Amino acid sequence: MQWRNHPHGYGLVSITLHWLMALLIFGLFALGKYMVSLDYYHPWYQAAPDLHRSLGVAVALLLVLRLAWRLANPRPQPMGKIWERRIALWVHRLFYLLTAAVVVAGYLITTADGQPVVVFGRFELPATLHGLENQADLAGQWHDGLAITLVSLAGLHTLAALKHHFIDRDDTLIRMLRPLPPSRSAAPGANNRSLKATRLADQKKQGRSAAPGANNRSLKAIRLVDQRKQGRSAAPGANDTHQRKQQEE
Ligand code: HEM
Ligand code: HEM
Repeated sequence: MQWRNHPHGYGLVSITLHWLMALLIFGLFALGKYMVSLDYYHPWYQAAPDLHRSLGVAVALLLVLRLAWRLANPRPQPMGKIWERRIALWVHRLFYLLTAAVVVAGYLITTADGQPVVVFGRFELPATLHGLENQADLAGQWHDGLAITLVSLAGLHTLAALKHHFIDRDDTLIRMLRPLPPSRSAAPGANNRSLKATRLADQKKQGRSAAPGANNRSLKAIRLVDQRKQGRSAAPGANDTHQRKQQEE
């Protein structure tokens, strides 16, 4: 089993952490929006925020684990053009930063009046920074704004992953779904699926056999050698006129 990352692919631990956190973040966003719409007499009025805060702390723990794992493992380079790779790298960093910021803002709302954060009814995180002017309101606004930014960015990130899969036809999405053996991956930018697809398309266009060895350059070279042997010009169409002139002479 491939637990660790290798330079061109993610291992099982990174993949599990990625999808678990993605699920929790989308889920917490929906739960957050749902719970602030509840009225005091709703049966979930108390339970929903309790669950939201507990799952939020779970995200914080997973984030620490994920960053530690990221430091201890090779980091697969994003695929695609140079500008795509640069953007992907910064978006990934921004995800870690935004997730941490959303969690801190959530913590600051909950602990604004000195109350601890109760996690799954089992343990408590004590309040540290509290009693600041308007703390709950300000932290609440930041929490909401940062959460919206995080989820919107995740929406764009999803579209980018689908573009890699269906348009570029590279391994970006596949390698986040299951560990790929190091042998399958090529250098960043070049990858198996797209290279194969490009070659096949070229071969179909030219109506040539897909057999190895049949390619543009070798065909041209063979034609040139033939023409030279027969002492004819390589210019297209020049052959017929040349032959006719020779016959007339
Ligand atoms: C990535 C993790 C999290 C996400 C995506 C998230 C998302 C949200 C969203 C969308 C809301 C509704 C905001 C609004 O419409 O005003 C909300 C509310 C809230 N969240 Fe989070 N949250 C996260 C983590 C946390 C954590 C860790 C805590 C506390 C320890 C927390 C505490 C709260 C509280 C107390 C509210 C209610 C705010 C209010 O009444 O205005 N959240 N959250
Ligand atoms: C809240 C949701 C999400 C967050 C916060 C998130 C975050 C991240 C981060 C931080 C990375 C970089 C991992 C690293 O190298 O350290 C990553 C990679 C990736 N994510 Fe997401 N992600 C989310 C949802 C999704 C979804 C829904 C999809 C696809 C449908 C997706 C597809 C991918 C893929 C394919 C990669 C690998 C990129 C590559 O190899 O260059 N992610 N994600």
